[in-house]
Amino acid sequence: MIKISQSMTEDHRCIDQVFVEMERAITKSEWEDAWLIADSFDEMMERHFSIEEDVLFPAIEDATASASGPVRVMTMEHDQIRYLVNVLRTAITEQSRDNGLSASETLLMMIQQHNSKEESVLYPMADRTVQTLEEEVSRRISEAS
Ligand SMILES: [Fe+2]
Ligand SMILES: [Fe+2]
Repeated sequence: MIKISQSMTEDHRCIDQVFVEMERAITKSEWEDAWLIADSFDEMMERHFSIEEDVLFPAIEDATASASGPVRVMTMEHDQIRYLVNVLRTAITEQSRDNGLSASETLLMMIQQHNSKEESVLYPMADRTVQTLEEEVSRRISEAS
């Protein structure tokens, strides 16, 4: 059985790749591509967040009374990331290369910090405490790809 940390970390890497493509399109002012890629990026990100918010985080909180702090921080960061994705999409709609690049730089930093906290703290916690969800997590990830 694939561990939760492994499936979720691989999903981070897939989303990272799409981010790189999106940034490249913005850099080249290829707005139609940027728009389409931003759409898939948003969709992949929301699917990933929903696995965390609907399945993983509640299960971690149930299993470990002490986890509510980290889970609350991660959920708050999801909202900050969602906000930045909207800023970025607005820049793409307005075909503003400067705004697009500055939003994507902030977003990338935010995502990297967020992911590294999940990969070093939350996912290992999930591996230890909620093994019963391994199957559901890998199914929900593969359903979308
Ligand atoms: Fe997350
Ligand atoms: Fe994540």
